[in-house]
Amino acid sequence: MIKMKKIFALCLLGSMSLANYAKDWEKQLPYQNPKLSVEERVEDLIGRMTLEEKLYQMSAIYFGKNAEIFDATGEYSMDEVRKQFGTHGVGHLSCPTTDMSARQAVRTGNKIQRIAVEETRLGIPVIIDAEAIHGLRATGATSYPQSIALSCTWNTELMGRIADAIGQETYSRGIHQVLSPTLDLARDPRHGRLDECYGEDPYLASRMGVEFIKGVQKNRVICSPKHFLANFVGDGGRDSGNAGMSERELREIHMPPFEAAVREAHVKSLMAAYNSLDGIPCSANRWLLTDVLRKEWGFDGYVVSDWSAVNHAHGALHIAPTKAEAAALCAKAGMDVELPRLNTYVKLGEMIRQGKISEEDINENVRHILRVKFEMGLFEHPYVDEALAEKLCDAPHFRSLAREAARQSIVLLKNEKNLLPLKGARKIAVMGPNADVVQLGGYSAKGVSGVSPLQGIRNIWGNRAEITFTKGCGMTDNSKDGFEQAIKNAREADACILVMGGANWHTGGETRDRNNLDLMGVQEEFIEEIAKTGKPIVVVLVEGRPVTMTRWMDKADAIVMMFYAGEEGGNALAEVLAGEVNPSGKLSLTWPRNTGDLPMCLLHRPYGREGRIVEYDNNGKDFLPKDRYVSLYPFGYGLSYTTYTYTNLKLEKTAIKEGEDIRFTVDVTNTGQMDGDEIVQVYLTDLYCRITQSEKRLKAFRRVHIPAGETCTVSFTLPYSSLSFLNEYLKPEVEAGEFELRVAPNCMEGLTVRLTAEGK
Ligand code: BGC
Repeated sequence: MIKMKKIFALCLLGSMSLANYAKDWEKQLPYQNPKLSVEERVEDLIGRMTLEEKLYQMSAIYFGKNAEIFDATGEYSMDEVRKQFGTHGVGHLSCPTTDMSARQAVRTGNKIQRIAVEETRLGIPVIIDAEAIHGLRATGATSYPQSIALSCTWNTELMGRIADAIGQETYSRGIHQVLSPTLDLARDPRHGRLDECYGEDPYLASRMGVEFIKGVQKNRVICSPKHFLANFVGDGGRDSGNAGMSERELREIHMPPFEAAVREAHVKSLMAAYNSLDGIPCSANRWLLTDVLRKEWGFDGYVVSDWSAVNHAHGALHIAPTKAEAAALCAKAGMDVELPRLNTYVKLGEMIRQGKISEEDINENVRHILRVKFEMGLFEHPYVDEALAEKLCDAPHFRSLAREAARQSIVLLKNEKNLLPLKGARKIAVMGPNADVVQLGGYSAKGVSGVSPLQGIRNIWGNRAEITFTKGCGMTDNSKDGFEQAIKNAREADACILVMGGANWHTGGETRDRNNLDLMGVQEEFIEEIAKTGKPIVVVLVEGRPVTMTRWMDKADAIVMMFYAGEEGGNALAEVLAGEVNPSGKLSLTWPRNTGDLPMCLLHRPYGREGRIVEYDNNGKDFLPKDRYVSLYPFGYGLSYTTYTYTNLKLEKTAIKEGEDIRFTVDVTNTGQMDGDEIVQVYLTDLYCRITQSEKRLKAFRRVHIPAGETCTVSFTLPYSSLSFLNEYLKPEVEAGEFELRVAPNCMEGLTVRLTAEGK
């Protein structure tokens, strides 16, 4: 009876508060009413905003390290926040909480948000930004393998789970937007930020990008893929160089990942790049940001600037004599938000007075921003639960996901006489500059408790083998003082593991491009000296990019590409070396033999003459191994501890009519002794086309698990449109004729079959 009364009382209370709730909405302004459509709310709100409020919505406040916003206790001063917000508020906050503990971040975020919502005139919630290309870049958050490593898993399902986890961790910290993923392509390994990319291929990068965005955005966190467009492909791999390529190449190679982000993943934001396209800066490029992005692809989110890009448009690209004029050009072109700090957009009023931009132009920018704020439910849910972030911070299930990803991303490049897995070794000498450190790569969180290769090796081998360690040499310095001890350790060991390579902001990273891809310092000489001991040598490369290795590769019995494998990388590496995990990663980029061979990618148009082409090295020797430019390891390459054979490639139909799908199957047999995952790749060649085509284009792939001795029949369906090329008018067309399909373990091998298409 008492129970019944309680329930009744609760219902009454519930219905009373509901009634009040309904009444409240009636009292409120139309833009505050969630029952109205987003468009109605946007228009109502814009109609109420002053010009100053609009310009502040298009701007951000930077709260980082040097901001004068801390109080005496080292926390943000809310009075200072109040002062900066004034009555107008602000659209974005740049990374204000990423250096705090999870709990402090949420509390601070909520406090700041309360000022925006309750103390500014219109109560527009603020968007808090952070970075998250391979895990939220915030203190102690889970660090997954870097993007280049994730792309080598070729596992879109795994990518989706990681993105979901990143989205959960981000949302729980009160962060609303991540400046991620990077959808630039890794087309030139000299570029410093190569590790941020999902490889060189537009199809693979599109699949990864779409999964990232869907997984993150379903947690009510906005993604801003970057850098739109072609930011990393300046001549010689130089950062933010002018992309002087044709529109055809932009559309074939660089646009597809962004187009997929818009059309398939419905991304809510996008970052314009620093560079120019054929001379027109992306930040002020109306063709790119409005005609292509909005009118052609249907993007309805907002575009943010790269950091201080408006300044750079003036100071580096010199597009206008003043910053304010550059800002007007950017805003008018469709760059809606200026990051990271109050700078030029807040001063656009003067440009309106001078007739350089109109208030209606500004309204358009503001519309884009408000629409997303409404769509993401920020007005209804401006605050987050203060307890959740701590529970999710590097939670055990996220950690094991990071380990799973690291296991799948490691690529085995060489394994002479099956040295790996290292089964029988009783004494293992671990050495090298990257053995005892955790390298996470660009845009990584601080305070991550990562596992180094050495720690991982000790964890796995435990008492089964004696592990010795000495660094032996540095990463970039020329000292050989450590050689002697390392040689001694090597002589006493059954096998040596040399963990070499580089580090973000040391041998690469943002604004740190390279003109030579050899290992730096005395690392190459170190490998040679250890090899002289005659002991079996495994070289592990911890780097964000391919390393050229002509000098030493013949001296290494096994070579493992680890990339930056995230916080669990050391454990995953050790599992691979010990044979507890069968390596299965495959290269998402072409590995060059020499720096001078660059650029070198799968997608490139044929050279214009038949016959042998000779390329000389410094000694005048022709070193081209075949008759054309050939990579050291081709796109899609990676070894395993087992072997796979491909048989029975069967096309359902060889003459394909317009609109019909192309269906085919292949049998892949695990012919070795160990269960494994194989990444089955599908390439298409348009044998004859009036516009020259790349020899092979990646069209599909599937990662499949195949137990030892078993066969897996893998089936694929390609849409008719996959046969198309861009015609003279840059429109997709299928030319009648013959095509070749290749189903393969990498782009150079596999089975092929021919088909014909009837044309458009
Ligand atoms: C980079 C962006 C990044 C921004 C903020 C810029 O230098 O190009 O990728 O999002 O800094 O960290």
